[in-house]
Amino acid sequence: MVREWDPRTASSDEVASVLDTLNAVLAADLPQDPPWRESSLREYLSEVMPGERRISWVAQGEPGPDGVPGPILGHVHVLLLGDIGVLEVLVHPDVRRTGLGRELVLLAARRVYQEGFQSIGVEVVGDTPAVAFYEALGFAREYVETRSVLDLGAVDWPALAEMATGIGAGYHLEFCPGGPPDDLIEAYARAKAEVRDVDDGELRPSSYDPQRLRDSLDTLHRRGMKPYIVLALHEHSGEVAGLTEVVVPAQHPTRADQYDTIVVQDHRGYGIDRAIKARMLLELRSAEPTLAEVQTWNAQANEAMLKVNAELGYRPDREWCEYSVDVAELVHRLDAAR
Ligand SMILES: CC(C)(COP(=O)(O)OP(=O)(O)OC[C@H]1O[C@@H](n2cnc3c(N)ncnc32)[C@H](O)[C@@H]1OP(=O)(O)O)[C@@H](O)C(=O)NCCC(=O)NCCS
Repeated sequence: MVREWDPRTASSDEVASVLDTLNAVLAADLPQDPPWRESSLREYLSEVMPGERRISWVAQGEPGPDGVPGPILGHVHVLLLGDIGVLEVLVHPDVRRTGLGRELVLLAARRVYQEGFQSIGVEVVGDTPAVAFYEALGFAREYVETRSVLDLGAVDWPALAEMATGIGAGYHLEFCPGGPPDDLIEAYARAKAEVRDVDDGELRPSSYDPQRLRDSLDTLHRRGMKPYIVLALHEHSGEVAGLTEVVVPAQHPTRADQYDTIVVQDHRGYGIDRAIKARMLLELRSAEPTLAEVQTWNAQANEAMLKVNAELGYRPDREWCEYSVDVAELVHRLDAAR
């Protein structure tokens, strides 16, 4: 049975069942990734930025003879933001290739169409069945990034400590757990607005103005994702010359996500990229003692950043692709195939 599902009001058993399916998917498709935990999972699935909406559906197995509800074997949600619907579909490995994935995409696509959106985007992990699935449905590949993973157990910490101090005169670094301090929010947003040299996926919009930045930090906290920031401050002007952001999610706290890293144009060539990332890792080591890995996503053309990441010890892991499709065409195609 497939039905619309609201994670805010769902029973704890249902949330736990979604978690089981997610972990079965990870074990099948990304066995090196840490399994997720239930901690703040409901909030992760419910909370959105102001102005955004997320709509979810689940596919639930038949109830047992004792009337106990069946497990949730499929889950789809679509995040409506700007002019695009961002899709995520999960089908338990035990019930794949039965048409459930296609059915879930059609449900979400119909709603996105009814809501007046034009296109649907999806992140697809390289070397997993999702590639053939979305291509079979007519999605086109728009953009490819490389995910890299850093094993903190293999880091050369003395070398890293040296990198963290190898920064030009006239700059100093500041570690800001929780987010940038209020008096630096405006300068922080200016740095993000000037340079869009983003270090993460295109489907996650960056925050370019102070209010959007505050909203975005607030949303992260509500979703159980703890942000850490290292800033490079230009002492003469007080401007933010560089920044790097890492988030430690309650759902997989042993593996953190590296978000944006930005060095403002005028401040390039002073070792800021390397220094802020190295300082971040040193700080995380004491702030998050259970953290074992950090993952990051880079455009394959971003050679400078890939080089610094390799020096820090990041190893390329997978292709991470963005696919998109015109909603009307998708609905028409899937309806015609039924
Ligand atoms: C991608 C996914 C949703 C597909 O679900 P599914 O229920 O197996 O898909 P369907 O049965 O509806 O398949 C529809 C079509 O897609 C294509 N397809 C799906 N899986 C495929 C595979 N492994 N190889 C080749 N083609 C495939 C086929 O054309 C299939 O039609 P067919 O079975 O009639 O040939 C499922 O594999 C999944 O949940 N993957 C994880 C996705 C994800 O987001 N992961 C994130 C963490 S890794």
